[in-house]
Amino acid sequence: MRKKFICGNWKMNKTVEEAVLFANEFRQIYMPVANRKVAVAAPFTALFSLKLCFEGSGVGVGAQNMHFEDSGAFTGEISAPMLKEIGVDYVIIGHSERRQYFGETDETVNKKLKKALEAGLGPIVCVGESLEQREAGTQFDLVGAQVKAAFEGVVAEDIEKITLAYEPIWAIGTGRTATAEQAQEMCAFIRKTAANIYGAETAEKLTIQYGGSVKPSNAAELLTQPDIDGALVGGASLKPADFWGIINY
Ligand code: PGA
Repeated sequence: MRKKFICGNWKMNKTVEEAVLFANEFRQIYMPVANRKVAVAAPFTALFSLKLCFEGSGVGVGAQNMHFEDSGAFTGEISAPMLKEIGVDYVIIGHSERRQYFGETDETVNKKLKKALEAGLGPIVCVGESLEQREAGTQFDLVGAQVKAAFEGVVAEDIEKITLAYEPIWAIGTGRTATAEQAQEMCAFIRKTAANIYGAETAEKLTIQYGGSVKPSNAAELLTQPDIDGALVGGASLKPADFWGIINY
């Protein structure tokens, strides 16, 4: 059975001091829930401190990006072994903000996914359509192509280590959540796309999150859908009580 995986995405928020404050407050309210995994993806600068703060709590720590090479002349970049060395568990790959503002492409997403797997990091690969694409009715073509491109050269044995996050761009940070029906429909489509490549049995092992304005008030409806295995949570993961409200939906 797939566990529900709730991961916070802090984006470019929180200094080390603020991250530590969050962790200390969160540990006071957080209790592990059966069959539920929890992590926080924080800015690089806070990862090492956060890892120490969450020690023994079962809460994982994730980065929000990485480079696909191990080392070299890539000024300003961080590699998978560097993340691994400080105990990072997960890495978000191909978030729409990175695709939109930082030149992330399906090709770099694929390279990063393979590198994360090689390094033993848990990849969280983001896909999702824009408002224009949804209004034009091309969302399934677009997301299907993103999923296929991400999986290029990835072997079936690795599928259970991967989290696919469906994040419609029009729902990110807008307060406009996809309906549970829309989110379930796309997550089922993503699983079917994986099944076409790897077979149904392997596709059943893929963790698929929904992301986009998830909050305590809509978490239950989204997270009880059959193909939605978790949530990638932006704004509502910045406050311990809200994040806990989603985890404990
Ligand atoms: P949001 O962001 O929850 O603030 O909409 C989600 C995300 O971008 O991962």
